[in-house]
Amino acid sequence: MRTVIKLHYAAWRRRALSDLSGRVAVVTGGNGGLGFETARGLLALHARVILACRDASKGEAARARLLSEFPDAKVDFLPLDLSRHVSITEFSDRLAALAPKVDRFVHCAGVYYPRENRTSDGLPATVGINFAGTVALAKATEPLLSPDGRAVFVTSLVDRKGSVKEDPLADDEPDGYAAYARSKFLLSGYVFKKSAERVPGEPLYLAAHPGITKTPLLSKEKTGPRPLWSRAGHALIYPFTQSPEKSSLPILFAVAGRAENGDLFAPRGLFQVWGYPKRFPFSRRVRDAVKKYPECFEI
Ligand SMILES: NC(=O)c1ccc[n+]([C@@H]2O[C@H](COP(=O)([O-])OP(=O)(O)OC[C@H]3O[C@@H](n4cnc5c(N)ncnc54)[C@H](OP(=O)(O)O)[C@@H]3O)[C@@H](O)[C@H]2O)c1
Repeated sequence: MRTVIKLHYAAWRRRALSDLSGRVAVVTGGNGGLGFETARGLLALHARVILACRDASKGEAARARLLSEFPDAKVDFLPLDLSRHVSITEFSDRLAALAPKVDRFVHCAGVYYPRENRTSDGLPATVGINFAGTVALAKATEPLLSPDGRAVFVTSLVDRKGSVKEDPLADDEPDGYAAYARSKFLLSGYVFKKSAERVPGEPLYLAAHPGITKTPLLSKEKTGPRPLWSRAGHALIYPFTQSPEKSSLPILFAVAGRAENGDLFAPRGLFQVWGYPKRFPFSRRVRDAVKKYPECFEI
């Protein structure tokens, strides 16, 4: 008999999301924040979940927490560091051995003001992890996605503040915020372009952003120096934002709701900061840039 789980927003979940029994879902960054809440939501839909995390102890701890809440579930952990290409390749090989068919792939892992300036492969850290590493992972694992599968990419409402010049991986952004905006701008553009190139019978490519929510993304443990305006701005805005659990709903909708290829889901409220999920178009800035510089959105 199935365990009955009590998650918040149960009525919305029942109405909006499909059951995922027999389906396999991967969540990058599933050890904390939005990735963890997404994994919880997927388990409540009866999916088998594979957590892809860079820190083995955090990955195993998250797995144990999920299993204590969902004792009948199947949850696995695989190591993944998006800042190292060799780790992406090893992860893909391990995933193929563990689950030759993946139905939902949630690309949630990301950084904002990371402590390191560069990835282990020498790329600027934020764009290197949020865009280059994520896209490299998507490409490496694409053959595992079932034809009726979905790849869901977690972007941000600041994607519209990003821009691209000739080289998307150039280390020429003036500050951490601009680097983050560019990384999400490139990621949104990748999803927009990839979904436009899809042919029938291939998996759907979708994006979701959570609005703004207080997670460990900007914790001292994870971030390098942050300007005062960033710390003050976030301290002021957090009391008015919603919980990580509610902010995971646009991601869950992209994973298990009525979605079409190329959809973007975000909170429906003021400035897309809070509320239940709604479909939005990609920003004009992203769409125009993909038309003008398509080569910048591939790696
Ligand atoms: N919170 C917000 O308001 C907000 C708004 C818009 C978009 N987002 C996006 O939502 C996603 C999840 O962020 P969050 O807010 O939930 O923050 P979070 O709790 O810090 O989660 C980020 C996750 O990414 C993982 N990660 C970081 N670098 C990695 C790497 N090199 N390889 C593999 N995994 C790595 C982290 O692992 P560790 O725990 O080991 O660091 C963590 O599991 C991110 O893509 C973020 O940009 C968040």
